[in-house]
Amino acid sequence: MTTTHDSGTYRPPAPGRPDIRQRTLRTDRWWLPPLANALGLATFVVYATIRSLWGSAYYVEQYHYLSPFYSPCVSASCIPEASHLGQWFGEMPWFLPYALVSLPFLLLFRLTCYYYRKSYYRAFWASPPACAVAEPHTTYSGETRFPLILQNAHRYFFYVAFLISILNTYDMVLGFQSTDPITGQTSFGLGLGTLILLINVIGLWLYTLSCHSCRHVTGGRLKHFSKHPVRYRLWTTISKLNTRHMLFAWLTIGTLILTDFYVMLVASGTISDLRIVN
Ligand code: FES
Repeated sequence: MTTTHDSGTYRPPAPGRPDIRQRTLRTDRWWLPPLANALGLATFVVYATIRSLWGSAYYVEQYHYLSPFYSPCVSASCIPEASHLGQWFGEMPWFLPYALVSLPFLLLFRLTCYYYRKSYYRAFWASPPACAVAEPHTTYSGETRFPLILQNAHRYFFYVAFLISILNTYDMVLGFQSTDPITGQTSFGLGLGTLILLINVIGLWLYTLSCHSCRHVTGGRLKHFSKHPVRYRLWTTISKLNTRHMLFAWLTIGTLILTDFYVMLVASGTISDLRIVN
């Protein structure tokens, strides 16, 4: 007999399983977390894509603020002052970001992140939609095949992201300067923008260092901690950070958007930076 239930066509239970015809017996709003995840991730992707390709309002010359979506700015399309590492390419066509050397790696770093995988496997692929809610799929091969087997390359993106975090730190330190527009003299300066850049960089370090691959390479793959006291200490600290990895993943989505948005407002002249010193 074929009947239907709330997930579509009725599938008879596997041998030995009780014949429960509902997709799930959960009565809570189990669909809320995957929905929130899908909206949060989609917002970030749309914002980051638009802003990375925007091509203006990413650098405040007077206070040396550079948006993280434009670091490093290595194309001839960049404002020369914003090119902290020089200009390696000619003019960028509209469909390529100025920070072409970093953004693809950062995208792959987050795309292969163990936390984000959980998040988008649930939110976009319903695999599973929630615990104890039947999947819409009839087959499942996990991460055993191409392309998902490539998720195993995460550690290499971690290494690159580590270097990019150093670069973001350098950009942030430059934000502690103020250039007098009349005399051209540069001296120490501190504004709200500097603090926002600082908070963003702290967040990026917390996210990067709390990575599961970081935990593995520092000490997680060792067998005898007693023979590696330094790596054991490192592993202990990173394990503590790692328990908050989900939090840091969302926190940095927020700080990245906030930092870029603030730099955009100041660079476009919409608001002026709130200065604390100079
Ligand atoms: S596991 Fe999330 S960044 Fe490595």
